Amino acid sequence: MLFGQHLDRFQTLLGLTPVKTVTIEVLGRPRRIHLKLEGHNLTGSVKARTAYGLVRGLAEEGRLRPGVELLESTSGNLGVALASMARYLGVGFSAVVDPMITAECRDRLGELGATVIEVDRPDPVGGYLLSRLARVEELLASDERYVWANQYENRRNPEIHRTMTGPEILGQFGANPPDALFAAVSTGGTYAGLAECFREHSPRTRLVAVDIKGSVALGGPPGTRHLSGIGASRQSSFVEPHMIDHLAFADIGEAAYYCRLVLKEAGIHLGGSSGAVVAACVRHLAEHPEITDPLCICADGGEKYQSTIYSDEWLESIGESMTPLSACQPYCTAGMG
Ligand SMILES: Cc1ncc(COP(=O)(O)O)c(C=O)c1O
Repeated sequence: MLFGQHLDRFQTLLGLTPVKTVTIEVLGRPRRIHLKLEGHNLTGSVKARTAYGLVRGLAEEGRLRPGVELLESTSGNLGVALASMARYLGVGFSAVVDPMITAECRDRLGELGATVIEVDRPDPVGGYLLSRLARVEELLASDERYVWANQYENRRNPEIHRTMTGPEILGQFGANPPDALFAAVSTGGTYAGLAECFREHSPRTRLVAVDIKGSVALGGPPGTRHLSGIGASRQSSFVEPHMIDHLAFADIGEAAYYCRLVLKEAGIHLGGSSGAVVAACVRHLAEHPEITDPLCICADGGEKYQSTIYSDEWLESIGESMTPLSACQPYCTAGMG
């Protein structure tokens, strides 16, 4: 297989991200929450794993050759991960992005030598994904050097989380696996792969998918979305109903509240989708006193969200305010558990 040795070496740099435990007071009772911190992964997000899975698949299928231009539609993190891989392998990479990409991700793509192609026309579902995919189709038709990784439909996406991320987590927890797992859904690759792994190896773990208002990833009504990384303008090709024990919809004000609480009280800097996942977890804990060891998949860190989820001006500009969960106040304290 072409690039085999390079890919093997890349794999040794991936994963083994830490799990940290915080305690958050929920309805007056301190509750432990475990956080799987994918911001510590190579390239700063869970998407390092996805990029590796997708690129390895292309190499195994003989589609990755010197001279190709790797192509992907991305909201940011996968683009940065693919750009790093492409640079490492010595192939080109073009990222089709939209205005929701953070300035930090866009700069990083440029630094890594990626060609950045931005669409600016919102799609009819309130996001940009469908516009990005239309641009990908145009590019594929225009030049046969393009090879599309296709994170939306390529089974290698959930597979890498079933075979790498899931077993890594189960190994970290040993004899006491989490009794509930919370993860954000965009393509649904991370969630679906973890769900398949946990259904097989830890069937008592409750699986909670976290989406955001306005996303149709799991069949919700379409609407405007402002946060990158969570939700999508198309239905997930990977998440099936039997993989979901509970479906949660977080909102941005709640995500902002928990991002800032965890930073202030525990010193852990979470990205926006991670704040949404923690918010969904807290809400679930309020309704389920029996859960003792929930795990939140925190897809990235907070560094690139200073001008969005950590900014009061930004929240105000999109008509949101920072709120603890409206249904079940008050939660106020977090600290290392
Ligand atoms: C910040 C963040 N959270 C969550 C996800 C969810 O990933 P998936 O596409 O596997 O559903 C992503 C994916 O880009 C992400 O960047």
